[in-house]
Amino acid sequence: MTNQAVAVFGLGIIGSRCAANLAKAGYEVVTWNRTPKGGETDVATPKEAAAKAKVLAFYLKDGVALRDTFDLIRDQLTPEHVVMNHSTVDLETTHAIAVACAEIGCGFLDCPFTGSKDASAAGQLVYYVGGDPALIERMKPVLDATSKELKVIGGVGSATVIKIATNLISAQVVQALSEAMALTEASGVDSQVLIDAVASNACGSVLAKMKMPAMAAGDYDTHFSVDNMRKDSAFALELAAQVGLELPGITVANRVMTERCEEGDAELDYSAMYRQFARKAPDFAR
Ligand SMILES: NC(=O)c1ccc[n+]([C@@H]2O[C@H](COP(=O)([O-])OP(=O)(O)OC[C@H]3O[C@@H](n4cnc5c(N)ncnc54)[C@H](OP(=O)(O)O)[C@@H]3O)[C@@H](O)[C@H]2O)c1
Repeated sequence: MTNQAVAVFGLGIIGSRCAANLAKAGYEVVTWNRTPKGGETDVATPKEAAAKAKVLAFYLKDGVALRDTFDLIRDQLTPEHVVMNHSTVDLETTHAIAVACAEIGCGFLDCPFTGSKDASAAGQLVYYVGGDPALIERMKPVLDATSKELKVIGGVGSATVIKIATNLISAQVVQALSEAMALTEASGVDSQVLIDAVASNACGSVLAKMKMPAMAAGDYDTHFSVDNMRKDSAFALELAAQVGLELPGITVANRVMTERCEEGDAELDYSAMYRQFARKAPDFAR
């Protein structure tokens, strides 16, 4: 058991499961969610959460959510506090929060993760960590409660870049899987045949194995939402513009996801990218 208190901000798919695992590991957990959830550990305001804990873990939607919430606790922060941002945010927000923490003298880790609903439930996330190595070492026991691995990436900002880059890959893999499944089905071959073929092909992956059967079944139970992947693709495009790159693949995937959100699929799992074919091919792209 540990008496250290940890505050979790954001009780969505991931934050709710991480809070449960921190409690299971013996931490005293304080939780806050914008829309009250009525849980036993919930407090009414972010400020109250920051008053009750020195370690603050954020699992919020995006940069706007992080900045807004940070502004509400800024006055409460002391040099004893450590802010760990696990939300996938734009690079500018990561640097802005890091600067604000440095002004206060509190610790900051740029600490997004990979792993979805099931991995977070099992305490098996993988964190990408950017920041001061001594602070990473100090926070390791807390991070270990929700993860199976810490990948130390480098300085603040580097982990955000890697997270945005890896999601750029995942979004395009699911776009490619959607196109391949639509092409297969439209050509009169069952998508199960493609699923089996991909499993024995170099293009097969953990992601393909996870998403293809769900796509074939039209089961879009949310592990990671279309809207969240859409915002991450927007972060990639924003970053690309800043460094003077044109990225045609993620531009298309961003357009597809934006359309899905506009057509009411925002909160479905992002494997619902396949539904881009639903209107023309409702028999298979449900
Ligand atoms: N799910 C995954 O597989 C996965 C994997 C890797 C990274 N991530 C990243 O981890 C973060 C959390 O993911 P998730 O899947 O748990 O997301 P989620 O289920 O969509 O939850 C989002 C959370 O952010 C809160 N929120 C949204 N806008 C806010 C605002 N303006 N101010 C304060 N709170 C706000 C929501 O509160 P309300 O309940 O009030 O809306 C909710 O608690 C995201 O950045 C996501 O990109 C997720």
